[in-house]
Amino acid sequence: MAQHGWEAVGVDFSILAIWLARHKARRAGIKGVRFLVGDVTRLDSLKGHFSFALDIGCLHGIPLEERDRYAAGLKRLLEPGGTYLLYAWKPRISHGRRMGISPEEVAGLFGPELAIKSVRHGEDSAGRPGILTAWYHLERLS
Ligand SMILES: C[S@@+](CC[C@H](N)C(=O)[O-])C[C@H]1O[C@@H](n2cnc3c(N)ncnc32)[C@H](O)[C@@H]1O
Repeated sequence: MAQHGWEAVGVDFSILAIWLARHKARRAGIKGVRFLVGDVTRLDSLKGHFSFALDIGCLHGIPLEERDRYAAGLKRLLEPGGTYLLYAWKPRISHGRRMGISPEEVAGLFGPELAIKSVRHGEDSAGRPGILTAWYHLERLS
């Protein structure tokens, strides 16, 4: 995002993930990006208003009971008219625990403040055939 001119903030609770991201950004000479080690279900310390939020494969792994907090944080941070793009696996059992998220759950979690504009159903393309996925495009209503 920063490479395309956005002022970006990246959040992950893995120090290693943030370290790798900082390293990649430095190597590419990217400015205008802030990386935070933090829990996306506890974004209280993150201030400001964002016009765009992107989640590729994070929400679908968050325990069900913590997803409301994730949604509340996102609703607070995303400005009216803002876009939220989410890539998530559909519900499945992985390592003995339920993970993934259904389109109905996405609608329930983010509505009525965010409206689903489109859903593109697919299959994971990273060498894991049979894993059903979806890209969601949501918009923050005023
Ligand atoms: C499948 S990886 C996604 C990687 C990245 N989006 C990409 O496309 O390369 C999921 C990431 O979510 C992070 N994560 C999971 N739960 C989190 C939470 N509650 N707060 C912050 N990061 C979390 C993990 O540490 C992991 O780096």
